[in-house]
Amino acid sequence: MLKSFKLRNLEVFPNTILSPMDGVTDAPFRRLCRVLSGNRMGLLVSEFVPTDGDAVFCLDGHKQLKFFPEERPFGIQIFGRFPDRMATAAKKIAEALHPEFIEVNAGCPAPKVAGKGSGSGLLRDLPRLQEILHDVRAALDSSSVNIPLTLKCRIGWDDQSINVMETLKIAEGEGVEMLTVHGRTRLQGYNGLANWDWIGKVAAAAKIPVIGNGDVNSVANARERLETYGVSGVSIGRGAMHNPWIFGQIADAWEGKPPRQMTATEALDVFPLYYKFKLEDGATEMSALGRLKQLAARLCKGFDDPTLTVRQTLLTAQTADEFFDRLQSLREGIAREMTFSPENLVNLNGAKETDLRFGDQFAGR
Ligand SMILES: Cc1cc2nc3c(=O)[nH]c(=O)nc-3n(C[C@H](O)[C@H](O)[C@H](O)COP(=O)(O)O)c2cc1C
Repeated sequence: MLKSFKLRNLEVFPNTILSPMDGVTDAPFRRLCRVLSGNRMGLLVSEFVPTDGDAVFCLDGHKQLKFFPEERPFGIQIFGRFPDRMATAAKKIAEALHPEFIEVNAGCPAPKVAGKGSGSGLLRDLPRLQEILHDVRAALDSSSVNIPLTLKCRIGWDDQSINVMETLKIAEGEGVEMLTVHGRTRLQGYNGLANWDWIGKVAAAAKIPVIGNGDVNSVANARERLETYGVSGVSIGRGAMHNPWIFGQIADAWEGKPPRQMTATEALDVFPLYYKFKLEDGATEMSALGRLKQLAARLCKGFDDPTLTVRQTLLTAQTADEFFDRLQSLREGIAREMTFSPENLVNLNGAKETDLRFGDQFAGR
């Protein structure tokens, strides 16, 4: 199932990638996934870094740029709508931080990003996307470190304007060396399902590695996507929030190890480790508690706990001490008999599909 692919001279193995998620996949979360996988993940990518705001891009102002040597191979993702600012940022980042690659984001659907013409907004203005890719590539070529440029995109703005094949053509023409395709339109936001048929079409037509992204949440599902759609790899986002062990489980399957049903108690053991990584990264107790709850909100949905008692108990803790006291009581009490099966979740949105009507949150913006 797993194989390697080449990003220029870099042999990427295994071909699984933690998808960047702003406000989630900071260095401690990435470190958590790497450790839990037994160091068996192909690439890590930063949260997206804004470039529009600075007249002159300043490295100091962006906490997303922080990463640790053990995260390599590591890419830094930037977003913006001004070609010159994107190019300046890319060059500065490349020369100062030496990531393995720079990625341009053409996927973010948030109104404050896409509505202003950045992120997936670029899919409504492909000439601008082309100019950005051209100028960023030229800036990297002129820099002291000539690293690959990669692109992450959605399949289009809405169902009436799917243009991912044009995006691929432009990307290849401008020297992009890897394309990650999230199989949703911008209008979809995170609703509905990713359209893997489009991802497959891109992979079939591409000369560069194409990474498929959207809704991968289990070993079986990763295998099916890798075997069916001709992609060079898969990128996993929300699936890793529900199940940060997913990369290790995929690697285990590839190594022929039998699948193992995790208990809820084992899953709960992730919290002290994550808390430790947050504190080591300089987080305050309260901000670390916020991230513990963010993870608990997702992870506990995989427990066979129909009343979501474990989840509620953890989410209502007021301090880190209280969180860990409650965790201990749960481990010794009701969580003891529970299993952990995040692959059974109906959707990865973190909300019921019915909470939002399709595309509602973005309509007209
Ligand atoms: C909270 C959140 C933040 C995200 N931030 C980014 C980001 O900074 N850059 C990016 O390329 N994609 C971002 N994404 C999109 C994910 O990388 C991914 O493409 C999307 O969630 C679909 O993959 P999944 O179904 O595996 O989650 C974000 C997604 C979420 C849920």
